[in-house]
Amino acid sequence: MWSPSLALAFIFFAARAAAQSCDNGGTQNGTACACPPGFGGADCAQPACGGNLFQGAQRTLQQPAGGKTYANITACACQDGWAGEGCNVCTAASACQTAYNNVFGAPSTSDLAGNDAANNATMVCNTEPRVYAAGELSCDVNNPTLAGLYPGPAALTILRTLDPRLTPAPGVSGFGSNGTVLAQLWYEGEEQFWCSADTCSQTFHDDGSNGWSCSNLHCTCRPNATFCGGVPEKALTDTINSLAGTLDIDCAAPASAGAGVTCQFKQDQLVLFFGSSGIALENCRFGECVRQEVIDGNGDAVSEAPKKELSGGVIAGLAVVGALVLAALLLLGLGCFRQRKARKTGAIIDRHGGVTMEWNSVGYVVRNPHRSQFARGDAFADGHVILDGLHGRVAPGEMLAILGPSGAGKSTLIDILAGKRKAGRASGVVSFTNREGEPLRKPRIGFVDQSDVLPASLTVREALRFAADLRLPESVPGSEKSALVFGVLTQLGLADVADSRIGSPERRGISGGEQRRLSIGLALVARPDVLILDEPTSGLDAVSSYKVASVLRAVASDEHNPTVVIASIHQPSSRLFRAFDRVLLLAHGHELYHGPGGVAPATYFAERGMPCPEGYNVADHLLDIAADPPTSLISSNTSISSGQNEKVPAVLVHKTPEDAPGLENPAAATGKAQKGRGAEHATTFLTQIEVLSGREWKNLRRDKTLFIAHVAIAAVLGVFCGGLYYKTDITIAGFQSRVGCLFFLGALIAFSSLSSLYYVVDGRPLFLRERAGKYYSPTAWLLSRVLFDVIPLRILPTIIVSTITYWMAGLAHDAAHFFKFLLVLVLYSICMTLFNFLLACIFSNGGVAILLSALTCLYQMTFAGFFVHLNDIPPVLRWLQWLDTLKYTLEALSVNEVGSGLMIVDSLQGVPVNVSAQLIMNLLFGFGSNNYYRDILITVGFIIAFALGVIAAVFLRVREQR
Ligand SMILES: *[C@@H]1O[C@H](CO)[C@@H](O)[C@H](O)[C@H]1NC(C)=O
Ligand SMILES: *[C@@H]1O[C@H](CO)[C@@H](O)[C@H](O)[C@H]1NC(C)=O
Ligand SMILES: *[C@@H]1O[C@H](CO)[C@@H](O)[C@H](O)[C@H]1NC(C)=O
Ligand SMILES: *[C@@H]1O[C@H](CO)[C@@H](O)[C@H](O)[C@H]1NC(C)=O
Repeated sequence: MWSPSLALAFIFFAARAAAQSCDNGGTQNGTACACPPGFGGADCAQPACGGNLFQGAQRTLQQPAGGKTYANITACACQDGWAGEGCNVCTAASACQTAYNNVFGAPSTSDLAGNDAANNATMVCNTEPRVYAAGELSCDVNNPTLAGLYPGPAALTILRTLDPRLTPAPGVSGFGSNGTVLAQLWYEGEEQFWCSADTCSQTFHDDGSNGWSCSNLHCTCRPNATFCGGVPEKALTDTINSLAGTLDIDCAAPASAGAGVTCQFKQDQLVLFFGSSGIALENCRFGECVRQEVIDGNGDAVSEAPKKELSGGVIAGLAVVGALVLAALLLLGLGCFRQRKARKTGAIIDRHGGVTMEWNSVGYVVRNPHRSQFARGDAFADGHVILDGLHGRVAPGEMLAILGPSGAGKSTLIDILAGKRKAGRASGVVSFTNREGEPLRKPRIGFVDQSDVLPASLTVREALRFAADLRLPESVPGSEKSALVFGVLTQLGLADVADSRIGSPERRGISGGEQRRLSIGLALVARPDVLILDEPTSGLDAVSSYKVASVLRAVASDEHNPTVVIASIHQPSSRLFRAFDRVLLLAHGHELYHGPGGVAPATYFAERGMPCPEGYNVADHLLDIAADPPTSLISSNTSISSGQNEKVPAVLVHKTPEDAPGLENPAAATGKAQKGRGAEHATTFLTQIEVLSGREWKNLRRDKTLFIAHVAIAAVLGVFCGGLYYKTDITIAGFQSRVGCLFFLGALIAFSSLSSLYYVVDGRPLFLRERAGKYYSPTAWLLSRVLFDVIPLRILPTIIVSTITYWMAGLAHDAAHFFKFLLVLVLYSICMTLFNFLLACIFSNGGVAILLSALTCLYQMTFAGFFVHLNDIPPVLRWLQWLDTLKYTLEALSVNEVGSGLMIVDSLQGVPVNVSAQLIMNLLFGFGSNNYYRDILITVGFIIAFALGVIAAVFLRVREQR
């Protein structure tokens, strides 16, 4: 049957058979082959023996002898003025002229009369690397790897055709088209394989060096030639036949006239085998018979080599960096603008001058701990009531003590009055009125927590100034802030220790009582209308406690700014007890007494049958009663000042999001409004950054050990690692060391960034406290941490250790590779730092965070490709490598290192080995040779992801929850 497909197949095979019948790139012309110069015979398989290029089809051909398949041209002698393997390279103008005259006849004298005509007939031999029409080139191949297999002499001949019409040699002009290359490799006089490529472009430089770049490379190994199965166990047939893609032929400028030139024959796979210079060629000779006219016509038109274009990755990277810098500058400008505006127009500290605080029906319920997380309905329905129906009112200048045994709800009431975030459900109304009795929407509440969390390395004065800078409006001038700080110092009796460091448990600074007063001072700096303190005297001795109480007394009765002071007191001495104007006694969340202090409570309870024993501390008596209160007292609400002004627009109370629906008091809307306002800070973002950075800078300067330790350790490690891998050579063992060195650096960075985790965990309590105190926004804190942790403690040490190691170990020594190496490590360092930040932010337990971080390091090393070949990992686990940032880092580092053209030169039991390190890298670790920019982009992607994660974690997780 004759079918179209069969016909097609037939045509296809016929075409193939025809195409294959011409060897050496010859083209079919009718039934015969049009052969390239230097070859002949029916199928162009026979090489010419001697003669010259102009003889074309008349040239003598060499026949195979001695039962061989292919001819051997070793014995063929070249004519005078011709050289190279196959005698196609002219060496002198006279040789070209003679050969030309032999073919076309000598030019007549009339021809020679006119200058142009003379030039037209004048042949010259161009021996420069640059080609004008079609140039022959012949080189010795001297590659150790190839010589290890085939030690005999090898040569490569190449015909580079730029414009065949311009060449007079008949063998050449009839062959090939613009921009083609045809090359043959000869081994011991016998042709082994030939290659062709097209769409070539030539670049040439003033110094005489020259490059050809071609596409569509195609090579053919001649069956049974020595390389191609003649020695079966060393056959290169498959390798040669698979050469494809682009071909580059780069030739250096001749060192001196007549000296042999070196060239490189480069193709991706050849580069892989033989190193970045591909097949290195030596003693190259160039020869091109060409009319003087052609050279003159092109002589002046020295085309400059096109500027080496930046790769797409670099351009994209530069664009991104540029955009980031621009964005940062814009933001900075915006920040400056807003800062200036705030300084000009911001409010001055307004003194509300006497605020009355009042609360009605305040209650608080926590979830039943036995209730399932997923149970439907009101989560607090069967909850545990902590506070119930509390009322109270404190006038300016009054001090209220909240008393009660442990568990009575003192701290809870304090938190609710101070507007803290609570996990449970709070209800009721808290309101503030100014002197005129008008409701106040924005009372300033100062809160002093039970424990002191203070910046250890600052002095007392600096800590107060820090608070003043951040908690007072921008418009308050510096001098006023200094005066305020000075006033607070005197008021608190801290003037003596004003310039002492606060200190930490390890490095003692000021005493406990002084710390407590400083905490109060930090709240006072913001000029609060209401000052609320949670057990300000716990942990202090009687004298210190009384000192604190007298400070509070002074604050409350300040004649310029009478303040409401509310403090929970755990176990007051009688002296301390008498310092308070009013007393609120709590028992199991209920009010037992609320009214004047002093002896009034004793009288009140005496009337109810519980007289205070003679000589007994009234406070102790009250606590005794509260510890075991008679039910009669609890059921009858005995509050003296129960709320009488229910219509006052209130500011409170519901803080938990889940109870938004079903609020039973009008405070809800305003409560939300307050929450929105609560996010506002007294200062602009830029000021926050400035002030925070100022503190971090002081930390860094004072705690020099931190910075010096990081830098010194980096230098020592650099010398250690550099010594370990000192001047690695290019043997197989040296290659292992090189890669080991890169791995060492990666692992070092991964582990040393653990310290950033510690600093975040360490600084967390202070951040929580200051965030709750609305000193600054979390973003400002993060940014200052990045500026003062990442740059001096991460990037700088990384640069130090990498630089020392790099030059001591003798890695690729040129600037480009060095900076690319640095870029990878710096990015990795930032990436790991942010990752550890993230862990520290997510897990409030530092131990868990450190464990996870260490395990992550281990995982990263496992999948980095050094311990197990990435392709050998079972597919179930293989995907894990894509999350491994260390893998990308090491790949980029290795690619950068071997991409410098590193060759491994060694000998295995006497057999010389000369192989590209790139090949070994791909085989050994499964790294891709072109992945440098991909890896950089992925690492940047990880950095962005971690940064977003850190921001989210800081906003959502690192916040006070009481
Ligand atoms: C093809 O062959 C014919 C005669 O056989 C010849 O005239 C012509 O020049 C040849 N063409 C090429 C391109 O060699
Ligand atoms: C140069 O020589 C070629 C043939 O060799 C001829 O065709 C051409 O016209 C000549 N050009 C000049 C300018 O003489
Ligand atoms: C070869 O290049 C020359 C200019 O260098 C041009 O005039 C000619 O048309 C080109 N020939 C082909 C086949 O492209
Ligand atoms: C070619 O001939 C030379 C000597 O004339 C000889 O040394 C060489 O081995 C021969 N080449 C091959 C491939 O046999």
